[in-house]
Amino acid sequence: MIESLEKKNERLNSLDALPEHVLHSLEQIAGKNIRKRLVPGEDLIQAAAPVLETEDILSGVHALLNGWLTEDVYCQKLEQQLAQYVGARYASLVNSGSSANLLAFATLTSPKLGERAIRKGDEVITVAAGFPTTVNPIIQNGCVPVFVDIDIPTYNIAADLVEQAITSRTKAIIIAHSLGNPFDLSAIKKLADQYGLWLIEDNCDALGATFNNKPCGSFGDMATLSFYPAHHITTGEGGAVLINNPRLKKIVTSMRNWGRDCWCMPGLDNTCGTRFNQQHGQLPTGYDHKYVFSHIGYNLKMTEMQAAIGVSQIKKIDHFVEARRHNHARLKELFQEFEEFFVLPEPTAGAKPSWFGFMLTCRGNKVNRNKLVQYLNQKKIGTRLFFAGNITKHPAYQEIEHKVIGELRNTDRVMEEAFWLGVWPGLEEQHLMYMYDTVKEYLKQERFI
Ligand SMILES: Cc1ncc(COP(=O)(O)O)c(C=O)c1O
Repeated sequence: MIESLEKKNERLNSLDALPEHVLHSLEQIAGKNIRKRLVPGEDLIQAAAPVLETEDILSGVHALLNGWLTEDVYCQKLEQQLAQYVGARYASLVNSGSSANLLAFATLTSPKLGERAIRKGDEVITVAAGFPTTVNPIIQNGCVPVFVDIDIPTYNIAADLVEQAITSRTKAIIIAHSLGNPFDLSAIKKLADQYGLWLIEDNCDALGATFNNKPCGSFGDMATLSFYPAHHITTGEGGAVLINNPRLKKIVTSMRNWGRDCWCMPGLDNTCGTRFNQQHGQLPTGYDHKYVFSHIGYNLKMTEMQAAIGVSQIKKIDHFVEARRHNHARLKELFQEFEEFFVLPEPTAGAKPSWFGFMLTCRGNKVNRNKLVQYLNQKKIGTRLFFAGNITKHPAYQEIEHKVIGELRNTDRVMEEAFWLGVWPGLEEQHLMYMYDTVKEYLKQERFI
């Protein structure tokens, strides 16, 4: 029997509470070690950082002191909460966002999917502008990435070019909601449905975003999340695969858990009640189901301590998302004044982003991106590029088999002229004003204004 949410909650609540004096000491230690308010000009204003509070650390300690280190009630609870928040059917926790992408993709190669399984040599539509581990699973599974250009200023796939990329070998689309801004889900989902393609939403940078009032992560067959400290909630390292297509749930679990056929939770046996009387492959009848492997799998599981931190963090998700939106809106308001020098970011039509960063594309004939970011970094303002820029230009990708649809003109432009500033919830008005003042100071120094 699978434990109900009520039962899990009961078990979670019955876990030994930390004794008062231990709690007090831990609170003091944790409180000392967590980030204090940043002073502009003195402390580095990072482009991305977590907002970690004493209660998050204590939650992790609670799980640790419970003595069961791998998947248990905290993991189950976080899976339930994530699925519920995103409106997905299921969530499966993993050890990173990159693992989530790998797991989601590997799931689609399962022979259990028959004709629809992705095979070596199949084509998968994606973008070259973004994070490498959105694209890597395509290559790691022997498939061919088909790169489509992006739009500026949404920094998302140019939806009108996608149909041209589809051939008889196309099996899937895997793309990210760039910097928290959803891609055109109505156009992409329509194409995926029309051509029978799998859709994976890389939602690693966009927890809390919606498209036509529906949460991102609930549209694709699967979606992925990252809980690396830069992201909307953190578990240190960590991530999740969200599953909307019920056919895929068992395959995700198997691929994540060494490829085994058995779906018992760690520490449990015989959940199916038929542990010793099944016959699989060429194995003898009754071979212990715990050691029957139906996929060439991985071990990508999250630990209980990480999940406990996540359970504490997710309680604050609405505040985190709102703070990111507020900071982005404020920066946009301030930077209107510099529109002559920068392309300002825009949400995709129909989207309500959950911003990861504030992207600026320098109008190259005026502002030199490299000079500006160096200036900002000297002034202790952290900047980030749009991850890989154009992934096809990187050393590791020189020999890979791939296709490009048309030209990657905007992708190249972003590689050369764009960068982003932070909007994470720890930033306040004084930090945003400091960013604005410093950019203004630079423009003055260069005699642009
Ligand atoms: C869009 C996107 N996908 C995947 C990842 C990988 O996540 P992780 O660092 O947890 O492996 C990142 C990382 O920031 C990302 O931005």
